[in-house]
Amino acid sequence: MLSVDNITTFYGASQALFGMSLAAGKGEVVTLMGRNGMGKTTTVRSIIGFTPASSGTITFDGQRTESWPAYRVAQAGIGLVPEGRQIFPNLSVHENLFATSANRRNQPNEWTLDRIYELFPRLAERRTHMGNQISGGEQQMVAIGRALATNPKLLILDEATEGLAPLIQEEIWNVLETLRSQGLSILIIDKDVDALMRLADRHYFVQNGRVEWSGSTEELGQNPEVIETYLGI
Ligand SMILES: Nc1ncnc2c1ncn2[C@@H]1O[C@H](COP(=O)(O)OP(=O)(O)O)[C@@H](O)[C@H]1O
Ligand SMILES: [Mg+2]
Repeated sequence: MLSVDNITTFYGASQALFGMSLAAGKGEVVTLMGRNGMGKTTTVRSIIGFTPASSGTITFDGQRTESWPAYRVAQAGIGLVPEGRQIFPNLSVHENLFATSANRRNQPNEWTLDRIYELFPRLAERRTHMGNQISGGEQQMVAIGRALATNPKLLILDEATEGLAPLIQEEIWNVLETLRSQGLSILIIDKDVDALMRLADRHYFVQNGRVEWSGSTEELGQNPEVIETYLGI
């Protein structure tokens, strides 16, 4: 589904990625973990095309995408839930969801707005509220719903539950479990290792712009020192 191979990425003269590689198969859930500033968001930005890689390759769904503009990557089937949510403050919940709603690739079991409201009943109640009138948790639900409305083949979440109340976090994890059980491929960044180990198949730990450890949930369970080494917790 997605393969990132040995990419390097710069912000101006400042190098952020030093040979980053990762892969996510169809229906697989993989995580990207690491301390702040290690290159997780930059990896996502390079995959999406916001901050293109200057070397290395990115393959999505059989096509080389590393030099594609972001709109084309999105149309190819990557749905992004960006760090900080970035929903439209002056659009209603419904308008935020409607704005990206499309099923260009005729994906089966289409994500209609009705289905998104079923997934997040709270958003149905808030559908006429403006983006800036709802809580952070509701904003994150809109961000996830907006990504699903594009009917992606791969969903990428950058800091899936950051800064949210525990009950809302729980709801987000439950929704992600539902999406996983429906066969969606997911690349997820978060700091909740326990929740990620319950959800995901494989894990990548990044340090200084490259992957330093990767393995299955079972392997991570057998090597708990990895968490201490790369997250310092
Ligand atoms: N817009 C930017 N301009 C310059 N440097 C940046 C920018 N965004 C991130 N960086 C730098 O790139 C490195 C990786 O950052 P980032 O990918 O955001 O890390 P993470 O998501 O793992 O916290 C850091 O050293 C950070 O300071
Ligand atoms: Mg980040």
